[in-house]
Amino acid sequence: MLPTTIIANWKMHKSVAEAADFIAVLKKADVPTDRELVICPPFTSLKVAQVELEGSAIQYGAQNMHWEADGAYTGEISAGMLKEFGCTYVIIGHSERRLYFNETNETVNKKVLAALAAGLTPIVCVGETLEQRQHGESEGHVKVQVNAALLGIENKDYQRVIMAYEPIWAIGTGETATPQQVQEMHHMIRSLVGEPVRIVYGGSVNAANATELMGQLDVNGALVGGASLDAIEFARIANC
Ligand code: PGA
Repeated sequence: MLPTTIIANWKMHKSVAEAADFIAVLKKADVPTDRELVICPPFTSLKVAQVELEGSAIQYGAQNMHWEADGAYTGEISAGMLKEFGCTYVIIGHSERRLYFNETNETVNKKVLAALAAGLTPIVCVGETLEQRQHGESEGHVKVQVNAALLGIENKDYQRVIMAYEPIWAIGTGETATPQQVQEMHHMIRSLVGEPVRIVYGGSVNAANATELMGQLDVNGALVGGASLDAIEFARIANC
């Protein structure tokens, strides 16, 4: 049985002090032991996560990385640098990165390969636009994204990857995909990646809708944006 993984994507939110406050509250929260929690703060709060989460079961990671180990890439951070801060996870190919920072299926694949080589667990984001859904192109689009992201990865290593299905129209909009839409897409992704791969759903997840969404057969957890900024709400989701 795969663990249920609940991931907080803070995006560009929280100062170091706010991150420390959040972690202090979450550490005290009651969360079932079969739930794996992962916090992805901005780079600037990775150090406080490393210090405050030492000895805790709560994992943490980054929201992005570069595929090269080092070099003249102003403003970038490598997988090795994330490892120095004790990260075990890294979000790759979030739709905001694809949209605003020109990330492509090809760069996503390079990052996934580099993350795996460094021993990080990539959380690979895929998902369609509203227009693609309306035109019946969702499955085809997501299939291309999944296959491209995993290009060159041996089947046995698939289980070191987490897939995150995040329909773009559901991110930050308050509008979630229906449990049926989510299950359909997760089932399709499952057919590509196999049984041992965790597939989490993201897009306006909160404590009120998480039980139903995470209760779907092929849903192994959630990637939470807005609702992950509050430690109590995040703990509530982890209890769903
Ligand atoms: P949201 O964001 O929960 O605020 O919709 C999810 C995400 O972007 O990962």
